[in-house]
Amino acid sequence: MKPFFITTPIYYINARPHLGHAYTTMVADAIARSRRLLGYDVFFLTGTDEHGQKVERAAQKAGVNTDAFANDVAASFRQVSRDLEITNDDFIRTTEPRHHRAAQELWRRVAAKGDIYKGDYEGWYCTVDEIFVPETQLVDGKCPTCGSKVERLKEESYYFRLSKYQQPLLDFYKANPTFVQPDFRFNEVKTFVEAGLQDLSISRTSFQWGIPVPDDPKHVMYVWFDALTNYLTALGFGSDRPEAQERVDRFWPVAIHLIGKEILRQHALYWPAFLMSAGIRPPDRIIAHGWWLMGGAKMSKSIGNVARYQDYAEAFGVDALRYFVMREMPLGQDANFSDEGILTRYNADLANDLGNVVSRTTTMVHRYSSGTIPEARRPGSDDLDAQLENQLNATVAAVRQDFEAFQISLALQRIWELIRSVNQYIVKREPWALAKDPERRPQLEATLYHASDALRVTAALIDPVMPGTAERIRRMLGIAQEPWTNLSAGTLQPGTRFGPTEPLFPRIEKSLEELRGMSTQDASQTSGQTAPEDARISIDEFMKVDLRVAKVLEAEAVPKSKKLIKLKVDTGRDQRTIVAGIAEAYQPEQLVGRTIVVVANLQPAKLMGIESNGMVLAGSPDGGKPILVAFDQDVPAGSRVR
Ligand code: MSP
Repeated sequence: MKPFFITTPIYYINARPHLGHAYTTMVADAIARSRRLLGYDVFFLTGTDEHGQKVERAAQKAGVNTDAFANDVAASFRQVSRDLEITNDDFIRTTEPRHHRAAQELWRRVAAKGDIYKGDYEGWYCTVDEIFVPETQLVDGKCPTCGSKVERLKEESYYFRLSKYQQPLLDFYKANPTFVQPDFRFNEVKTFVEAGLQDLSISRTSFQWGIPVPDDPKHVMYVWFDALTNYLTALGFGSDRPEAQERVDRFWPVAIHLIGKEILRQHALYWPAFLMSAGIRPPDRIIAHGWWLMGGAKMSKSIGNVARYQDYAEAFGVDALRYFVMREMPLGQDANFSDEGILTRYNADLANDLGNVVSRTTTMVHRYSSGTIPEARRPGSDDLDAQLENQLNATVAAVRQDFEAFQISLALQRIWELIRSVNQYIVKREPWALAKDPERRPQLEATLYHASDALRVTAALIDPVMPGTAERIRRMLGIAQEPWTNLSAGTLQPGTRFGPTEPLFPRIEKSLEELRGMSTQDASQTSGQTAPEDARISIDEFMKVDLRVAKVLEAEAVPKSKKLIKLKVDTGRDQRTIVAGIAEAYQPEQLVGRTIVVVANLQPAKLMGIESNGMVLAGSPDGGKPILVAFDQDVPAGSRVR
């Protein structure tokens, strides 16, 4: 079996996993599953990147020791696999001894090559992205990548001779024209390298939470030197066990690193340079995907506009979430994440197209053939069956290619064309009419056979993206999972007994606003922020939230909404509109004149088309209705609440 090694980035543990992280992991999983179906021997790796100053600081701020902090957040990244049907073979943590050994081994090899020297670093550093930022690249004195404040560093540091690898890198890129996908990203990398490379600072002395530099433990390794090595660690690099070396030899360098576009430079430039220096071949390919945007900006913890993947998996199902993200975002491009987007695709593609074809076909087989697949007797002149078979075979071939080229969105598009064709085929054949005419029984049987056969192929093709749904369809069809290696039309066995039909993807008729109630996502007014649950905040952080006493001046129900009320409130400083989700508990007229508490400095958000400028505080008992916060004496509007 051909080896295939697929990795996700290892995730920083300063934030709990959100949809952005879960996305990469889901895509990597679909790739891993597709390769298994194609007959590869797959090794699929994900994990956590646990060292660095920001983790040390986050733990201090939370008032817990760094180990405990790391264990806790790493566990929530592990949980992603359980929540989203992820089939990773290993989960690596950079705090594990096996990884310390591997990173130190890589360091030693690079040092032995003469590529590491000691110097002083003076310059700017972004702790959020863990990158050194040249003065010329600062934007308004801030990090050009994430916009956060940079820090001035002045410390002794080891350097890697990156400048020496400019030409070797360019030669390597030339010899490996598919090294970075998509092409336009590869061009960016080449342009950057062509402009010249500076040596890279690869150690720090101002904090401890890292891997000690061999023979000079005052220094810890720069997190990216440490982190990138994880891909080798997991195979067994740095271990002296013979089977470890065997695994390295088997799965390296056939590695595919799937990453977000913001960490391309580290993967397409630093990583191959470190490896070349250590005498190890660079990986086969780097695939850089785009960003999920929410409200126009990259979904990220630092902005606070993150969607909790758990909310969507709960509201729509794991497979629907997997389908949506992989269908919606073509390789390399950015895409918007919204409730509306996922709801629309759910109802159109899943409830309507896929749900229909499954229920029609299986119901037909039960009704007209007692749940058993008849012989595929071909009614001579009618070429509808042949057309469908041709489309099936063509789709299998194209989808295999799409997956091999990591174009999952394209593959899904094709599969859905097939699904729509099968629906049309059934409509054209009118089995309900054929069933009334015993002379046309052969045509009816052919229809049942071909539609069911198409469903079998469909289940196989959606398997990497929607494994649970594929399995449910197979159960209805009474068949086992099939590899993609000899998937073709016409191999469904006559006599196969169908299992009971079960509904897939019932339509969701709820309004967006009700769905929002189900999830906590909504643009700004959410608990979606991913601070560790046990992390304490400082008084300064608390004081950033401007809690004010306000008086309700006007209140009216928001049309077509069960939950929302539009309020006009006096905050002592201004009068403003706030939309509150309290209509199930309060009548508008009960609210006028009331004293309430609002978050006055929340970014505006649109709810049912109305701009809301703040949030009303209420107790939210589990499963119960909201109860407004109130005072036991009169407090004037505008008073601060703290
Ligand atoms: N620890 C480094 C990676 C080291 S790899 C040797 C890191 N970690 S991270 O926690 O910041 O995760 C970044 C990755 O999470 C991105 O590359 C991407 O895979 C995923 N995403 C995080 N936010 C995302 C979006 N808004 N959209 C898409 N993917 C996102 O960088």
